Amino acid sequence: MYVYDLDRVREARADLVAAVPEGAQLLYSLKANPHPDLVGELLAGGCHAEVSSTGELSTALAAGAVPAEVFYTGPGKTAEELEIAVRAGVGTFSCESLVDLQRVAAAARECDREVDVVLRVNGAEAPGGAGMRMTGEASQFGTDVEILMGRRAELAGVRGVRLAGFHFFPLTNVYDEQSLLDEMTGSVRTAAALAGELGIEVRVLDLGGGFACPFAKEGERPRYPGLRAPLTAALDEHFPRWRATTRVLFESGRHLVGDSGVLLCTVSDVKDSRGTRFAVLDTGINHLGGLSGIGRLLPLAAAVLPVGSGDAEETAPGKIRLVGPLCTPADTLGRGAADVSAHVRVGQILAIPNVGAYGPTASLIGFLGRPAAAEIVVSDGDVVTASRLVLVREPVAPHTTSRQENTMETTPWDARYPKVLAEVLPRLGSSVGPDDNLRAAGLDSLALVDLLVRLEEAYDVTIPDDDLDPEAFATPASLWQVVEAALARTR
Ligand SMILES: Cc1ncc(COP(=O)(O)O)c(C=O)c1O
Repeated sequence: MYVYDLDRVREARADLVAAVPEGAQLLYSLKANPHPDLVGELLAGGCHAEVSSTGELSTALAAGAVPAEVFYTGPGKTAEELEIAVRAGVGTFSCESLVDLQRVAAAARECDREVDVVLRVNGAEAPGGAGMRMTGEASQFGTDVEILMGRRAELAGVRGVRLAGFHFFPLTNVYDEQSLLDEMTGSVRTAAALAGELGIEVRVLDLGGGFACPFAKEGERPRYPGLRAPLTAALDEHFPRWRATTRVLFESGRHLVGDSGVLLCTVSDVKDSRGTRFAVLDTGINHLGGLSGIGRLLPLAAAVLPVGSGDAEETAPGKIRLVGPLCTPADTLGRGAADVSAHVRVGQILAIPNVGAYGPTASLIGFLGRPAAAEIVVSDGDVVTASRLVLVREPVAPHTTSRQENTMETTPWDARYPKVLAEVLPRLGSSVGPDDNLRAAGLDSLALVDLLVRLEEAYDVTIPDDDLDPEAFATPASLWQVVEAALARTR
């Protein structure tokens, strides 16, 4: 069971606001933890949402994000997701490559819009050493600064987008303040040079993040008291009018939510094998650190702390392995210290600290079909919500393209129908097309029930279950036929 404390989230946000230049804006990266209550808390506190998928977009919108303030980032965006995001009114897109830029522009034109884009830059310098590097060397992220230089005419000629500035995210999980500062001031310099070369008036400058937090081990979230003044000076030097002309953004996931979460688990079995004691927990890489389980990250070395004052066993050996309930040796959460092994007995509750970021949704949630961990949110000492994620299988809808949409000259329904659809599926945006993909817009089984109830109320009809084969709710047009059939029965 995860427990997230919103008080810690509020503290982390306030600390980070105080660390970055006054007047800058914080974005919350939903990838760290898309739990609606955490997202809602950070939005209410003044953060804007940074999303990298339509799933994250719909979570952000449902949690109260204003579409025009959403920042849509990430590599490999598809034409379909971009159309959904543009229709939903997303304000700014970060483009990872020139292909990505063309795709964002095409989606904007398809929807008769113009959107702001920032170019994600892979800088040439890599001054900040520490942390997990994402750009500053050969990278799948961003466009190399030397590729962007000299493309002024080509970039200016892209219709459907307004080039609004630049996006940097070179490092993550950086404890060393000087490294972070060097990297960010380097980004400011690069942005100024690029702006001059490409003739871009920088209205948006996203300097990224990299703000750290311990993961699954004890420790304090670092503070960055020495960042604000020199970074403000760098902005003043390279963009003297930035306060009036430029939204300066910083992004953070783990630093904002990491220390808000603890994973509580219970020891299901304790067994000794050839000198090693194994504690089998009721949590594993299906709940925490799935990426390390499959070898994509360093092995997890979770610290576990006994909860409550259980008696220490006299005979406990020093070595203990903390393993999960999955049928693979990869399901190892760590090796507990000797003081933990003394407490480990069947039924003992243990706590893994600092797991508010990259917890359930970064884990192997479907592997072996065990339930996802419960997620409990507390605020001011009271429980706010208790829920868990559920994986649902659904039929895949036939693929439709926006070109097919445009061949439909008229929409067959009345004015109420698209409004009801958009209430339940905000990702459809204001102009609902007959062949829009309802599942891609978020129509899962819960949304379906909600939609049916609203349609029955709006049209004062009953829609029999027999009318609801999966094809019926593939598109607005197919679902409208069901509504029409129900209406015909009332005449
Ligand atoms: C572009 C971008 N923004 C934000 C983040 C969030 O990182 P963190 O949780 O370390 O703040 C990442 C993480 O990889 C990222 O790639």
